Amino acid sequence: MVDGEAEPGSGRGRLEDRGHQGPADAFRARHGSDYHHPVMVEEVVKILEPAGEGEILDGTVGGGGHAEALLSTYPGCRILAVDRDPEALEEARGRLAPFGDRVRFLKARFDEAAVGASLAGPVLSGGLLDLGVSSRQIDRSERGFAFRTGAPLDMRMEGAEGGGFTAADILNQWEEGKLKELFRRIGEEPRARFIAREVVRRRREIPFRVADDLLETMEAAFRRPPAIKERARVFQALRIQVNDELGALGRALPALRDALLPGGILVVISYHSLEDRPVKQAFREWSRSCVCPPEIPVCVCRGEALGETLTRSVVRPTPKEVEGNPRSRSARLRAWRKAA
Ligand SMILES: C[S@@+](CC[C@H](N)C(=O)[O-])C[C@H]1O[C@@H](n2cnc3c(N)ncnc32)[C@H](O)[C@@H]1O
Repeated sequence: MVDGEAEPGSGRGRLEDRGHQGPADAFRARHGSDYHHPVMVEEVVKILEPAGEGEILDGTVGGGGHAEALLSTYPGCRILAVDRDPEALEEARGRLAPFGDRVRFLKARFDEAAVGASLAGPVLSGGLLDLGVSSRQIDRSERGFAFRTGAPLDMRMEGAEGGGFTAADILNQWEEGKLKELFRRIGEEPRARFIAREVVRRRREIPFRVADDLLETMEAAFRRPPAIKERARVFQALRIQVNDELGALGRALPALRDALLPGGILVVISYHSLEDRPVKQAFREWSRSCVCPPEIPVCVCRGEALGETLTRSVVRPTPKEVEGNPRSRSARLRAWRKAA
């Protein structure tokens, strides 16, 4: 059992940070890269130990940091490395090349990969989803994931080759009510109404094209420059919508559960409460022995738990990890084990 309340020093559920450059730091440093620093990498490796003799589906392989840590720690481990971003997959391919045929690569969305795995029957010893975007995706201004002067309002993880609509398409085409709902529900932005109204007013004059257009719109809506966190909320809401991130997660969770072998372990790291909530709810529901509505007097459902939640409460990075990698700040890890 990993307990998220056990913070640094207790050593429960995590490698202890000892001294300035302890084993946990060294482990993190070894698996970090200029591309991306994997979050809570020791925790992930430790929780997935029982899965270390089989195949683990890493649905968000990104720069390959978690995958590399798993492959180098567990010699019997194989990885199905999935990412929807072709650039990420190329990076992972290079980094994981030393592991030869212990790694298979698949350019796909993780929900598609999970459904494919589940159709093959229970085949996986583990599953890992480290949601959201990598540092490289954020830092590459032409991808338009974060605010950068002149960056196009694109945000598609597959890039242009995947087709689909861009952030600019949403801003230029969605009706005001839908925009308001997006900024309010996904962005959790209290001034969603004012931004949506200003977006619609502005686009009558000139279509949205680059990040500056959105920033100027927010400034007009607020009558002051938006704070960094307000800007981040609105940009993140658009990114989540463009990539249907919540839909993909909702489809992937039951498929990954079905694809796990008995005793298999699923780990999800999320960065937003709207991602964490469905994970928490799914793990809780799968761990209940009866899911009948209370008004039904006799149990008519499956009558037994499908497995157990391994994280009694959500696991967060240590303050030391956040200090070294501020982008890990909002990470929350949950894990579930399928009944043996
Ligand atoms: C936070 S990064 C993962 C970093 C990785 N764990 C590492 O150690 O480098 C998230 C990655 O997931 C990918 N991604 C996000 N949503 C996805 C989806 N629905 N299907 C496949 N890949 C996805 C992104 O392209 C990105 O490369």
